[in-house]
Amino acid sequence: MALSLAMMALIEPGDEVLYPDPGFPIYPSFTRGLGAKGDSIRPVREKQVSAGLERNCLKITPKTSVLIFNSPNNPTGTVFDERALRGLADLSQKHDLWLLSDEIYARILFGGKYLSPWALPGMAERTVIIDGFSKSFAMTGWRLGYGVAPNM
Ligand SMILES: Cc1ncc(COP(=O)(O)O)c(C=O)c1O
Repeated sequence: MALSLAMMALIEPGDEVLYPDPGFPIYPSFTRGLGAKGDSIRPVREKQVSAGLERNCLKITPKTSVLIFNSPNNPTGTVFDERALRGLADLSQKHDLWLLSDEIYARILFGGKYLSPWALPGMAERTVIIDGFSKSFAMTGWRLGYGVAPNM
């Protein structure tokens, strides 16, 4: 519900939305349901970052309004490092995009410390974090989720 509400708030019919592929299937289906056009991006790690960002950059048009990001990722389990996050932050600032950061798996880490793109300079005002209790606390049936968004 938090994800749907955030998408309804940020996406207008005719907008273009970028989301990870592979990724949670709700991103493309809800994008279509809102009358927007979706395309996939592949946030990349370490050495591939520059090439990957360039490729993603090519998909951004003046109609692109939202970039959906999910780390740790479902289904790959990839936890994106700080360099990849900085690349996404640069893209969203350069093209004035909202970053919808689905962080529902942020507490399921087998090492290291979780870093949200929200924490990077200039990102708190353009990031909406989606999180919930179903994964971290095995409380799926409670349907408890939440969003963290800037006060506009
Ligand atoms: C990436 C991602 N985001 C959000 C959700 C939604 O979680 P829930 O509806 O259990 O709160 C899921 C559930 O599978 C997911 O994989």
